[in-house]
Amino acid sequence: MPLPYSEKVMEHFRQPRNVGRIEDADAKSIEGSPACGDMVAVYLKVDRESLRIDDIKFESYGCASNIATGSIITELAKGKTLEEAKHITWKQASEALGGLPPIKTHCSILAVDGLRAAIENYEERHGLIREHKPTTIEVIRKRLKRVMNPMVGLDLVRTKVVKDIEIADGVVRVAIDLPADHQFAANIREEISEKIQPLWDVQKIVVEFTE
Ligand code: FES
Repeated sequence: MPLPYSEKVMEHFRQPRNVGRIEDADAKSIEGSPACGDMVAVYLKVDRESLRIDDIKFESYGCASNIATGSIITELAKGKTLEEAKHITWKQASEALGGLPPIKTHCSILAVDGLRAAIENYEERHGLIREHKPTTIEVIRKRLKRVMNPMVGLDLVRTKVVKDIEIADGVVRVAIDLPADHQFAANIREEISEKIQPLWDVQKIVVEFTE
């Protein structure tokens, strides 16, 4: 039986606004949903002075609800300051869409998480984080959930290839359960570094593959 989607959801699903990527983005994020395994990417262009979102785009690898929510949150966020955009909730997004079936709540949470992670990425890259908490294994694990395992199209944590994580004196060591000569090894190493690098207290990242 088809889900009872509102007219607005269907309209945003059929003609999503702000779809695509921004090649020279000031910040970006990829978030995955623990509930369904789908992913969303958000790209931002931000005015350095006013910290207003000049442009925002998203790519969704999720369902109709996720596409519709991605479309509506990018509309809501455009022109807002980062601080204002941070407070956009999945409830507001869902209300702006005329409601979503409860079973689809996680899809709008995923889109909003994508927006928040992109804002966080901007703040990290530009030294705007006010409260610096020390990086923990949990923080690293969360970042690794944003790195895809290209062989299966799911993240590294969920596909259980992260063997070990260690943090000592600003050095983060990640052990990956794949051979060093694997065709995607360089790719995975680069993606891991990209996600962990912005953390304020990380000086070096070592990604180890199996022999
Ligand atoms: Fe995965 Fe909707 S079911 S985003």
